[in-house]
Amino acid sequence: MTAAPPSARALVYDRYGGLEVLSLREVATPTARADEVLVRVRAAALNPKDSFVRKGRFQALSGRSFPKRVGVDFAGEVVEVGRGVRGLARGDRVWGALEEVRYLRGTVACYAAVRAREVATMPAGLSFTEAAALPLVALTSLQALRDLARVEPGDRVCIHGASGGVGTAAIQLARALGAVVTTTSSAKNLELCRSLGAAEALDYAAAGASARAFDGARRFRVVFDAFGDLSLGRVRGALTERGVYVSTVPSRRVLFDALRTLVGWPRARLVVVRSRHADLEALRAHVEAGRLRPVIDRVVPFEDAIEAVRHLETKRARGKIVIAIDG
Ligand SMILES: NC(=O)c1ccc[n+]([C@@H]2O[C@H](COP(=O)([O-])OP(=O)(O)OC[C@H]3O[C@@H](n4cnc5c(N)ncnc54)[C@H](OP(=O)(O)O)[C@@H]3O)[C@@H](O)[C@H]2O)c1
Repeated sequence: MTAAPPSARALVYDRYGGLEVLSLREVATPTARADEVLVRVRAAALNPKDSFVRKGRFQALSGRSFPKRVGVDFAGEVVEVGRGVRGLARGDRVWGALEEVRYLRGTVACYAAVRAREVATMPAGLSFTEAAALPLVALTSLQALRDLARVEPGDRVCIHGASGGVGTAAIQLARALGAVVTTTSSAKNLELCRSLGAAEALDYAAAGASARAFDGARRFRVVFDAFGDLSLGRVRGALTERGVYVSTVPSRRVLFDALRTLVGWPRARLVVVRSRHADLEALRAHVEAGRLRPVIDRVVPFEDAIEAVRHLETKRARGKIVIAIDG
């Protein structure tokens, strides 16, 4: 394995804005600090948050430092190991997700400096493009279903927005936790949801179908709002007495409901994904046992990364958009 060159390409932007602010250009190659490894990224995946940050929606957190980068999911090879990092060596095939607020690091790039807790050994049997499609969405789903909703075998779980990145991971992880899963998606994705383990797949756009899912005829222990446009009020009638509504989107309504129901039932919770080495290892075990697989909408070459971001922003991707990082 050769050492990293002093500069290499990355997808970057110098001000907040639309797709026009993005450019693929040479940047200085980062070096690994004591608690980091330097990864030669072979594949990266896109997430809606990359675009929310670029559009300036979280400026209070992301700040005014530029250039900013794109992407948190990665799969690749370790090229440099910080002196404080144990258990990883040059040449190891790794995966993970950056926990990035200011987006001064990004994985749509040839190299990324990654903290030890954000990285783990890749599951056996996955290619780099397959592995890059899982970390952020699977960590989010695992932490929502296992930690916030405490899903137990036999629980009935409804996943709304089930055909996107988070939803496709959530169906499989809910099944792995022993739940009986109902999904909502558009009609074209019903079969995908069933193929991932949904016992019942509903088309939210069919006349009255979305209302039917939450009209109380079915009772769910958990509603996981992967798309993030529902509320506790909307689904309350469909929750069991000790039911939990978990959302991915920090709207005022969700934050207010989560505070209001800190104690008592039914309750609302917001998942805020964390990058944890132990959770990446738990996900690796699910993949290697055949309980979790990536769902990939498309793999695009590095040169077409900006077009890939455009596709993400249509909100119509089935599963993940992955960028293959070549030269
Ligand atoms: N809080 C956290 O820690 C956290 C972590 C990860 C993600 N998120 C958030 O979770 C949300 C989903 O992320 P994602 O990666 O799953 O996004 P995504 O992959 O871009 O989602 C695309 C999916 O959204 C579905 N969709 C589009 N319009 C819909 C509607 N009106 N109702 C229901 N579904 C609709 C589409 O399915 P159909 O074509 O079948 O409708 C499509 O498959 C984003 O807002 C993201 O920022 C939050």
